[in-house]
Amino acid sequence: MRPIRASWLTLRREADHRAREHSLPLVDALVESLGHREPVEIVDIGAGTGSNQAWLAPRLPLTQTWTLLDHDAGLIGQATAAQGHPRVLATRRVVAGIGQLDEMLDDESSPVITCSAVLDLLTLDQARQLARVIASRRLPALLSLTVTGEVGMSPEDPRDAMVAETFNAHQRRDGLLGPDAAGTVAELLREAGSRVTVGPTDWELGPEQAPLVERYLRDRAGVVVEHAPDAEPEASAWLAERLAQLERGELRVTVGHADILALTEAA
Ligand SMILES: C[S@@+](CC[C@H](N)C(=O)[O-])C[C@H]1O[C@@H](n2cnc3c(N)ncnc32)[C@H](O)[C@@H]1O
Repeated sequence: MRPIRASWLTLRREADHRAREHSLPLVDALVESLGHREPVEIVDIGAGTGSNQAWLAPRLPLTQTWTLLDHDAGLIGQATAAQGHPRVLATRRVVAGIGQLDEMLDDESSPVITCSAVLDLLTLDQARQLARVIASRRLPALLSLTVTGEVGMSPEDPRDAMVAETFNAHQRRDGLLGPDAAGTVAELLREAGSRVTVGPTDWELGPEQAPLVERYLRDRAGVVVEHAPDAEPEASAWLAERLAQLERGELRVTVGHADILALTEAA
């Protein structure tokens, strides 16, 4: 799989955190389910450079210990742990894939499982493993910021549909869940017995986020050309038009994301 760049995670962090304000009711429900259990153990899967911890830690009114897990040693090595936060008692970093999650957990622990912007990068097998760990151990889980594949741009452009279709096809390459991830994981968790709530955490972007939008547009066009080289002229023209609109302050972009909260009766 293509590695994720730290610069991309830095660029998107502010938009991610703003989008997650929409899912505060899910955080409240998670906190309620935890009762007065302290410290809460939290495992952040695909932690990257630590954005999920940076957002979530201050919003949990309980003392916490965190495990940041990622298969990319370079990214996790740069994770800016929220250790300065008084309720974060410890943060450990583990270089491991999601397939090692089950063996990492000891039988007595019942951590909160969390992740952000990860589920679309999983295969169906990996999603099944994750759902099995969560449901069989009766763990609470907050799985955030999964892209849904729904992208709205204003003004509209007749080439948007081709761009979206080709981009989403690329995200499903090699058996990855891509835009099907949120629905698939929610369903797997329901089937395994969790109580599942899904809420929107869309990016709402405009001229104020011009550097992120520019990178998003360039990456989107690049992926389209990689997936369908014949679409290069159309994708390049689309990109040029979109960049010009962005420069003129005319472009607004909504990128669909979803958060999933999974609880069990015991959680
Ligand atoms: C888009 S980044 C999100 C990083 C971070 N959670 C954030 O919100 O900024 C996806 C992360 O998931 C990690 N990842 C993807 N598949 C993984 C797997 N199977 N096991 C562990 N980490 C994985 C990548 O290395 C990357 O750090």
